[in-house]
Amino acid sequence: MLTRQERFWRDPINTPALTSAVSPRPALGLASGKLILAGEHSVVYDRPAIALPFTRLNARARISSIDGPSRVSSAYYEGTLDDAPDILSGMVDCIRATVEAVGHPREHFMIQVDSTIPTGRGLGSSAAVAASAVRGIASYYGAVLSHEEEMSLVRIAEVHAHGTPSGIDAEAVVATGPFRFVKATPIVPLPVGRALHLVVADSGLRGNTRAAVEGVRCRFENERAATEEHLDQLAVVVDDVQDALRDGDTEFLGTSMNVAQRELSAIGVSDSALDSLIVEALRAGALGAKITGSGLGGCIVVLASDAESVAPLAEALRSAGAQETWPVVVHERSAEEIR
Ligand code: MEV
Repeated sequence: MLTRQERFWRDPINTPALTSAVSPRPALGLASGKLILAGEHSVVYDRPAIALPFTRLNARARISSIDGPSRVSSAYYEGTLDDAPDILSGMVDCIRATVEAVGHPREHFMIQVDSTIPTGRGLGSSAAVAASAVRGIASYYGAVLSHEEEMSLVRIAEVHAHGTPSGIDAEAVVATGPFRFVKATPIVPLPVGRALHLVVADSGLRGNTRAAVEGVRCRFENERAATEEHLDQLAVVVDDVQDALRDGDTEFLGTSMNVAQRELSAIGVSDSALDSLIVEALRAGALGAKITGSGLGGCIVVLASDAESVAPLAEALRSAGAQETWPVVVHERSAEEIR
């Protein structure tokens, strides 16, 4: 159901850029990276998960008017939308669907995409780039998309990138804090009883979400009962993580993250590089450590006991081979604040 404002922008008589010779002003779309605290993979099988935006890293799309056919400028490609390589077909479809959705299919613009989110590391790069483009295009035309419309447009790019995305990445890259997610239902923002100090460490190895998800699918089909048990266990961990977040119980949160990692290993999505970073994090005093995102390459997320422990933990992880580390503070927020 469209709101009055959405109907306004859908109505051709209210879309002056279609007929006006005056070009719209440049516009910017922004989205952040993402972290999954618990429930990656099991979320594909209708179990809950908990994710949050990783705002230190972000994607931005700048849209400006040009003459001639629309163009893309990015680290991977510079040229017309029409000639974009196959690897960008998801993004191109997402951009085209967005201009269609905002009612300006004949417009000409340059979309310049910059992202500080490393690709293939489970940090939501593809969803963030798509969300920044969707938001940038909507803003360029002064259109207002509903959250559901935005999510379904981002999904177009995500399906190309991952095959069968649960939708958690698309939600996380535009979220304002931690939330509980179940496929095809609205997110539930979560309260945080005490600030959390995390370290994200990049193994430096590229992961492949599609391959990791297919690997779990294979297990699910061939070892159904055992895999269902691991997925159920991951769902229990998600409830525990939610409780620990609410209560500010960092010890229990750390323990729950470690249980999640055991289950994720059991379904085959950890690897030796991630395992040795996790061992090092725990040896260096972390309360918990696990992969974040699809695994098989990519990053781990580590829970420090307090703010002072973050720098030594990051140092230990870099000495153990992490290519990059980022500190993350998850700020306290009450149930009233998210209402
Ligand atoms: C990827 O960030 C998270 C996965 O659970 C896949 C998905 O939910 O679409 C591995």
